Order: sequence, then structure tokens, then C-alpha cells
Amino acid sequence: MITELDQPRHHHPPFPGSDGDTLLDPAPVAALDRAPVPAGPRAVWIAAGRSTATNELLVGAFHERGVRAERVEPTELGRLATPGDVVFGRLDVAPTLDGVEDGLWELRRVERRGIAVLNRASTLLACHDKLQTVLRLARVGIPQPATAHVDTVRVPTELGFPVVVKPRFGSWGRDIVLCATEEELTACLKALGDRAWFRRQGALVQELVPPADFDLRLVVAGGRVVGAVERVAARGEWRTNIALGGTRRPVEPCAETCALAVAAASAVEGDIVGVDLLPVPGGGWSVLEVNGAVDFTSAYSLAGQDVFEAIARVVADATPDLDASAVGLPG
Ligand SMILES: Nc1ncnc2c1ncn2[C@@H]1O[C@H](COP(=O)(O)OP(=O)(O)O)[C@@H](O)[C@H]1O
Ligand SMILES: [Mg+2]
Repeated sequence: MITELDQPRHHHPPFPGSDGDTLLDPAPVAALDRAPVPAGPRAVWIAAGRSTATNELLVGAFHERGVRAERVEPTELGRLATPGDVVFGRLDVAPTLDGVEDGLWELRRVERRGIAVLNRASTLLACHDKLQTVLRLARVGIPQPATAHVDTVRVPTELGFPVVVKPRFGSWGRDIVLCATEEELTACLKALGDRAWFRRQGALVQELVPPADFDLRLVVAGGRVVGAVERVAARGEWRTNIALGGTRRPVEPCAETCALAVAAASAVEGDIVGVDLLPVPGGGWSVLEVNGAVDFTSAYSLAGQDVFEAIARVVADATPDLDASAVGLPG
């Protein structure tokens, strides 16, 4: 059973100036003039258990900008990553839907060596464990569907019907079931008894936001929305996942929606994440999930800025965790 990793000992602003300190430092103008142009990372290690289209596109985008980049198994990080590098944590949900793919501890280890990690292990876990995401979003008052956690065949009394049943660690729209009545929910939970993920972690039972046949995915990087698409559900399908035949449609999100996505990213301390929002009948949005290993393409680019360019800049600006090296934790 994967448990919540211990929280970082210090508050580490992932970006220069993100906590205000760095930006407010009164630096003399002459000193600024002499300041070296940031060299950018020595190398970018994209830590992921699998090669995906997004990971390959990211590697290509760094190469185009003259930055050494490679997708690596997390077990290789100890050998490859050195201070001055950036580790881009892109561990995904395990295909068995019962946790995160291997490598969270390896990410923690490089983080403790003072190497910059974007989407730290704690963030990946907060995103991939949808129960933890719900709790984090609730703490800061972000609108989301009412959700209960069940680990037996139990009908949550706090929710009406219809409801959506989903794995705590899910992805690709897999094992997401709509239950219109109490009888359907009971039958669904009974049937889930043969799923290893249900026996290990139980399931989330969630209020259904009346499906509008599309949702909105915003990519947030460095505290800013840098990419967006609407995902349109396949014909006859209520779920919008691309893996279930959904298609992408360009969109320019409004400032209010962007602010909501940025707040959701911040609630999981996400450096580079995808925030999925469902339109609520009558107006507004409900945050459905925050993807720690978000998939995107150049179709996500907003007017005037390539999404890969924006992410490459955020990675180039990442600063190492100097506090961690000072405490001298073993690598
Ligand atoms: N509570 C809900 N209300 C309405 N639609 C939902 C709800 N939960 C899931 N869906 C639909 O199912 C899709 C997949 O659900 P999600 O929770 O994002 O799981 P996954 O991680 O597998 O993508 C969503 O993109 C959305 O279209
Ligand atoms: Mg989803």
C-alpha cells in the first residue's frame, strides 16, 4: 500500500521569485547589469517508467533548444543526475491502477541531494491519488464534485444519484463507471471485488456533474496557464478521455478559469500539471482532477506561445534545492 510521503522539511519555492522573496530583493542596477544570463540546466532527465508521445515530444523540444535531455527510468537517476541538472518527474499511474509506477523513492533521493525536481514525489502522489487531490483542493475551497471513499460494498449516504465510481489511482478513463441508482452502485461495488486495485485502495464514489460532452484541460507551468484544449467526448460516450476516442478542440481560456487552474495546481504544489475542469450547468467550473504526468501536444499551444517553449522556459528557470544540500542528507 502506498502511503503519503513525508512532507518536505522546508518550504522550497520551485521558481525564483515564486514566494516574492527573490523578486523583492533590492538589487542594485549595476549588479543586475553584470548578472550572467541564466545558463539553463546542464541536462534535463525526464523520469518516467515508459516512453510516451508526450515524453518523446518533450525530449525533442529540449534538444531543439540545445539542452541535453533524455527520458530515463527513475532507477537511473542516482547514476545520471548531478547538481545543475533538472529532473522532470513524470511518473504515471501504474497500468494496474493500484498505485504510481515505481520511482517515487528515487525522485525523493535526488531531491534530497539538492537537485531541482519539477513535480516532486509528493506532488505526483497528491495528483495520482485522487483521494489526496480531493482533500488538497477542499482545503483551499476549490469547487469540485462531492466525493466519498468506500472500501467495502457501501452506499454513501452523503451523495445522491447518479454517481460515478472510479479507482483512487486511475487514468485513461479506465474502470470509470456511471451508476444511476443505489442498486446499480451496489452491483458495481460487488463486481469490483475482483479488481486488485479495489481490494487494495477501495474506490471513490463521486457526484456526477451533468455531462456536457466536453471538458477543459489547462496545462499550468510555473504558476501560469501555458496550454489548453477542450476535450470532446466520442459519440455515445460521456467520458472525455482521448484514450476513449475523445478529440481535442482549440480554446483560449478566460482569466477566471485560468486563475482556478493555477489555484488547483498550487494546491498540490504542482510545477507542471494538467488541470481538468468540467463545465457546471448554470455557469462556472468544477475541478475534476490534476494530472501530474499530463499528456499534451502542440495543439495545446495558446495564441502567441508554443506550449513546449513555455515549459522549456520553466524548466530552465528551476533552481536547485539549496536547503536540502545544506542539511547533508544522504544521496
Ligand atoms: N464526477 C464526474 N462527473 C462528470 N463526469 C465525470 C466525473 N468523473 C469522471 N467523469 C468523466 O470521466 C472522465 C474520466 O474521469 P477521471 O476522473 O478524469 O479519470 P481518469 O483519471 O481515468 O481520466 C472525465 O474526463 C469525465 O469526462
Ligand atoms: Mg481524467
